Amino acid sequence: MNKQINIALFFGGKISQHLVLLRKAAKKLGVRLDLVSYNRVCFDTENLEVKIRGNLNNNEGRIQGSARTLKNDGWLQIDDYDVLFFRTTGKHWEEVDLIVGSIQGSTHTPVVVDPIVKNGKPSMACKAYQMLALKKAGIEVPKTVYGSLWYLYEKMADSRHHILSVLTPSQRAQMIARGKMDDFESVINFEFPIIIKGSGGDRGTRVFKADNLKAMEKLVSKLRKSETEEGRRYMLQEYIPNDGDYRVLVLGKKVLGVMKRTQQQPGEFRNNYSAGGKVEVAQLPEEVLQLAVRAAAVCGLMVAGVDVMAKNPSGLRPAPLDKGASEGMSNNPKDYVILEVNKGPQFKGFMKATGIDVPAEIVKFLISLKK
Ligand SMILES: Nc1ncnc2c1ncn2[C@@H]1O[C@H](COP(=O)(O)OP(=O)(O)O)[C@@H](O)[C@H]1O
Ligand SMILES: [Mg+2]
Repeated sequence: MNKQINIALFFGGKISQHLVLLRKAAKKLGVRLDLVSYNRVCFDTENLEVKIRGNLNNNEGRIQGSARTLKNDGWLQIDDYDVLFFRTTGKHWEEVDLIVGSIQGSTHTPVVVDPIVKNGKPSMACKAYQMLALKKAGIEVPKTVYGSLWYLYEKMADSRHHILSVLTPSQRAQMIARGKMDDFESVINFEFPIIIKGSGGDRGTRVFKADNLKAMEKLVSKLRKSETEEGRRYMLQEYIPNDGDYRVLVLGKKVLGVMKRTQQQPGEFRNNYSAGGKVEVAQLPEEVLQLAVRAAAVCGLMVAGVDVMAKNPSGLRPAPLDKGASEGMSNNPKDYVILEVNKGPQFKGFMKATGIDVPAEIVKFLISLKK
């Protein structure tokens, strides 16, 4: 039965090990999964059809794993597929939109895996947008300010902020009562260290910490070029003290598993596996797993890696064990923040930590989506 299911997995750049694992898993499960490079997508104004270019008798033109399924004219029809899974969309929204637009209204409409791809806009995949959408949905995130780097710097440099931060609670209360706080009440909790995070970053590559105003100034000056010349956007975040964070792998409405990541290297604050974080299998209370599932849905993602951090790891209330909570952990979702929701997450570290056959589970999930 599975043999009748055709999955297209679109990717940019080189074929990664993750993609190879997904293709192998599909083969084992007896379904066709084609790895289709975004470079293969084309159309012309004469017949207006968006198609996937096929075998051009060289490696560049090959559609991995599907050469024998090509039509005589060497093209692949997008609506021949049942499920379309778009990875590495970051630099390829143009091709993604062409493909998604081309299947609208066709008789056999393939399922597009992530709602954000079908109904969303590229900006919705950015971290800043996620912070806003999650907070609006009642899900806790680190306190975040979005704006130009100089604006973020000024937020912290504002002398009134410094004055306020050295006041005692009763002095602050007096200032509030006298209406002297203006909008500074909202920044009062931004004390150093702070995080500066690229809205479009990935795998810890655009997450920075500054311990004081001087360090922040240096950081901002360094990042300014990427803001002005590459159009990168940044946000300021409160730094959440932590002893690691959690990666929850979500498939649709289910949690596949959880791993904890803990930074080992002195002087490194990021817990990412790719930044040297130690990974181990972990458990989270059911309420927190549900939080991760909801966060993925709010961000329009079906296959998602949700980064969760406990807000106050040392002071957590023990949760009742009969609710399946992990010992010593709060089961109150308000005690956790969502750092980001990753689309098409990496899973090497996750497999190592949990022993779960992630590619097989992802392919099974993709199969389950067929209408
Ligand atoms: N507000 C924060 N407070 C403390 N640590 C943070 C904060 N934001 C990110 N980090 C650390 O940096 C890592 C990477 O941040 P994240 O937002 O997941 O971006 P990405 O993984 O895409 O680079 C996190 O896993 C965490 O260890
Ligand atoms: Mg992350």
